[in-house]
Amino acid sequence: MLCRLDKYLCMTCKLTRQEAKQAIKKKQVSVDDVIVCKPEMKIDTTKQLVQFQGNALLYEPYIYYMLNKPAGVVSATKDNLHRTVIDLIDDNVQNDLFPVGRLDIDTEGLLLITNDGELGHRLTSPAHHVDKRYEVIVNGALDDTLIEKFATGLDIGEEKPTLPATLTILETGERSRAYITIQEGKFHQVKRMFSHCGYPVIFLKRIQMGPLILDSELAPGEYRRLSEEEVQALKDTKK
Ligand code: URA
Repeated sequence: MLCRLDKYLCMTCKLTRQEAKQAIKKKQVSVDDVIVCKPEMKIDTTKQLVQFQGNALLYEPYIYYMLNKPAGVVSATKDNLHRTVIDLIDDNVQNDLFPVGRLDIDTEGLLLITNDGELGHRLTSPAHHVDKRYEVIVNGALDDTLIEKFATGLDIGEEKPTLPATLTILETGERSRAYITIQEGKFHQVKRMFSHCGYPVIFLKRIQMGPLILDSELAPGEYRRLSEEEVQALKDTKK
C-alpha cells in the first residue's frame, strides 16, 4: 500500500498529523535508513522500512477493538443527532473503522469495532448463525415455561420463527434477570422475543459474541485492543 509518510506515522505511532510533521522536521524519521524531511513523501508500506527515533514501525492493516458500549450512543459510523460508537475510539487514525453488527441505542455491552470488512461480514451474515449472549432484565416474574418457548422458536412477525434460543433464568420476582443466547440478529430481536411473551425488557447488555467475551475490566465507554488469541478465535468462527 502506498501511503504518505506523515499519515503512516499517525497510523503506526498514534501521533497526530501535526506531531508527525514535527518529528519528520526534527529528522527523527528514516525510510530505508535514510533520514527524510518530506511529510508528503509516498512510501510503500509492504516494502520499505520506516523508523521513528531509531525504532522500526510495523504497519497493521487491520485493527480490532472490544468496546463496552454505553447506553446513549448509536452503533453507526456517522449520525447527525447522537454520538456514535466510533466517536468513542480516540485513537482512530485510519478513519475506516466500523461496528460489527448493531446494538440499540439503549443496549450496552460488547461491540467489536474493526476495519476488517471480511471478518465483520462473516460474523454478521445470517448464514453463519454466530451466537450472541445477552444479560437481560425484564419486568415480571419469568418462569421455566419460557425456556421451552425460546428453545422451540417464536413467531415475532418475521417470515420464519426465531431460531432456537437458550434462556437461563438467574433471578425471578417483580423484575427478573436472565441470560439469553440467540443465533440471529433481527431488529430488536431480544426485546421483541420477551415482549411477545409479556415481559418488557428494561435492561439489555451483550456479554458475548461467538468466542469473544466482554472484558469485565472495561467500564461502559471503555475499549481495548483484542489480543492475538481473541482475533484468531474470531477468525476461526464458523468458517
Ligand atoms: N436485541 C435487541 O432487542 N436489541 C439489541 O440491541 C440487541 C439484540
